[in-house]
Amino acid sequence: MTPGPAERAAALRHAIEDANRAYYVHDAPALSDAEYDRLFQELLALEESHPGIRTADSPTQRVGAEPASSLAKYTHRRPMLSLANAFDPEGLAAWEERNARMTPEVREAGYMMEVKIDGAAVSLTYEEGRLVMGATRGNGVIGEDITANLRTVPDVPLELRGGGWPRLMEVRGEVYLPFESFRRLNARREAEGEPLFANPRNAAAGSLRQLDPGITRRRRVRMFAFAIEPIEGRLPAASHGEVLEQLAAWGFQVEPHRRRAADLAGVQEAVPDFERLLRELPFQADGVVIKVDPLALHTELGVVGGREPRWAIARKFAPESAITRLLGIHVNVGRTGALNPYARLEPVEVSGVIVSAATLHNEELIAQKDLREGDWVEVIRAGEVIPQIVGALAERRDGTERPFVMPERCPACGTPAERPAGEAMRYCPNVSCPGRVLEGIVHFASRGAMDIRGLGYERVRQFLETGLIRNVADLYEIRAEQLVELERFAGQSAEQLVRAIEASKAQPLSLLLFGLGIRHVGKTVAQLLARRFGRMEALMEAPQETVNAVPGVGPAIAEAVAGFFADERNRELVARLQRAKLTMTEAGAARADGALTGKNYVLTGTLPTLTRGRATELIERAGGRVTGSVSRQTHTVVAGDDAGGKLDRARALGVEVIDEAELLRRVGDET
Ligand code: IVH
Repeated sequence: MTPGPAERAAALRHAIEDANRAYYVHDAPALSDAEYDRLFQELLALEESHPGIRTADSPTQRVGAEPASSLAKYTHRRPMLSLANAFDPEGLAAWEERNARMTPEVREAGYMMEVKIDGAAVSLTYEEGRLVMGATRGNGVIGEDITANLRTVPDVPLELRGGGWPRLMEVRGEVYLPFESFRRLNARREAEGEPLFANPRNAAAGSLRQLDPGITRRRRVRMFAFAIEPIEGRLPAASHGEVLEQLAAWGFQVEPHRRRAADLAGVQEAVPDFERLLRELPFQADGVVIKVDPLALHTELGVVGGREPRWAIARKFAPESAITRLLGIHVNVGRTGALNPYARLEPVEVSGVIVSAATLHNEELIAQKDLREGDWVEVIRAGEVIPQIVGALAERRDGTERPFVMPERCPACGTPAERPAGEAMRYCPNVSCPGRVLEGIVHFASRGAMDIRGLGYERVRQFLETGLIRNVADLYEIRAEQLVELERFAGQSAEQLVRAIEASKAQPLSLLLFGLGIRHVGKTVAQLLARRFGRMEALMEAPQETVNAVPGVGPAIAEAVAGFFADERNRELVARLQRAKLTMTEAGAARADGALTGKNYVLTGTLPTLTRGRATELIERAGGRVTGSVSRQTHTVVAGDDAGGKLDRARALGVEVIDEAELLRRVGDET
């Protein structure tokens, strides 16, 4: 017997939750992204067509909220406190001393020690065990409503497990971005020519304050919980240690390296272990938090100035730093033409690693820190991947130091650099720039783009140096005989490479667009453009406004695309690729001249004859696009039986609503 929709949905939820656990908790993905998406889409469609089987804690409820236009303010029911700091053992001793004068019992009451996570503080409100609100810390009293974003974080329970919770409570925790996700995020931003985040904390905070929850979800932020503020009802815990156990039992992630110490001597003894631990954690941590264990003493000790509780303190460690010479400031050209200044340093050891270079991000940062070539500088590696320069030791200057001036021209090709309005970066606009060319060809050939096996940095450098190629179009004119004459090339590998280059001609327009390395055109945008325009020529000839109007494409992208194709050198390059017979079309693209071209449709309810898949196909073939939720960008809603919230929303927004018959009439000519 085939299972009914409710059983199937339950099975799908189960499989998706298992996959989430494997991914997020065990760091061992059990499903490929494609398989995961397939299950997710199936569940989404099932719940959509049978609204009755949807559950409040379904994984689908973590997505799908509309982008907001701004974040609403939220007043915390209890203020979100901060922590006093201690930087050495004496600081901790003085803290206990002060507390013992008020409450002598603290000396024997015991302390909890836990990792201080360096992210962004959040507060989650639970009513009857259900998440009803999530907010940023803000100034501690008023924060911002980021509920939709927090719902996408896998560690945030939408409904608590077990029982015993206060009827109304706020759970406090820290949202963070693991180093691995931080690196991936920045690598992608670099590839797409977007500014990089300086550290995981900024990246986490930025990801939380997005207007589109989808962005928060894709950034893969995580959360650890560490406190409960009961508002109505009693807390089933007598000590902070029990609070943490309770949070874990309800389904929160609690940082596992917590530990109890019987007294301050025990705390002092454990501090060096934590200091070592902090360097090995997969996320950024900036200290140890020490908390008086019994909650009864929290009430007695109270809060200083409404801001810092007396019962907790952060023991911080100075990041390891070193003093060295800033030998020079150089500028590197990336694939997108971004000019990246970096510092060459006299090699020096910082927390066990020899550092000889540091990024400087952009010229404004250099000016702010007034860094000069020849300066003595302080360098840190504060858990961050890339070493950073804290600042210069101005008192050590002898007058020979040279202020840095960002070159007006690209250091690799001499073309005048451009600085788009509102950006801190300068760019080399010359696509034939040798600095950009190497990076650009390697990217073009990479697996995610044209996928030319065997064409990596070493080979591309060799081809450029021997004059075999100057750009990606030259690749398609290489003959095996030419390769055999080069060093380190055997006949067989020459044949293989030529075949791989030939095979890449079949890659669709979307991958070619991505491979060309147009600024802001990452994989996703390339796909949107390819689907909308279908052919390279249509995109090249499209006015900037038309590109701008593609859903998911903003003005910065449209400007970059128009700028790219306005450049004669780029047009010539594309023309050569065309003559080399590359595929310059996208299968399954929307028709640029269909009856529904440029229109966004939303399907809701059960249609009399069409399945959801068939309706989607008809709309897309007529040039339209089908999206999951109704927004101001929606042109038309096609409603069937049992249409739910989407129909209400369409009416509220004044969006056109039609039935299946009308849809069939509109696409009639297209089928
Ligand atoms: S307790 C009642 N515990 O550090 C005091 N805070 O500098 C509330 N933080 O705003 C904080 N890890 O966002 C506590 N294990 C931890 C923490 C932690 C990180 C953050 C928190 C707080 C900030 C204070």
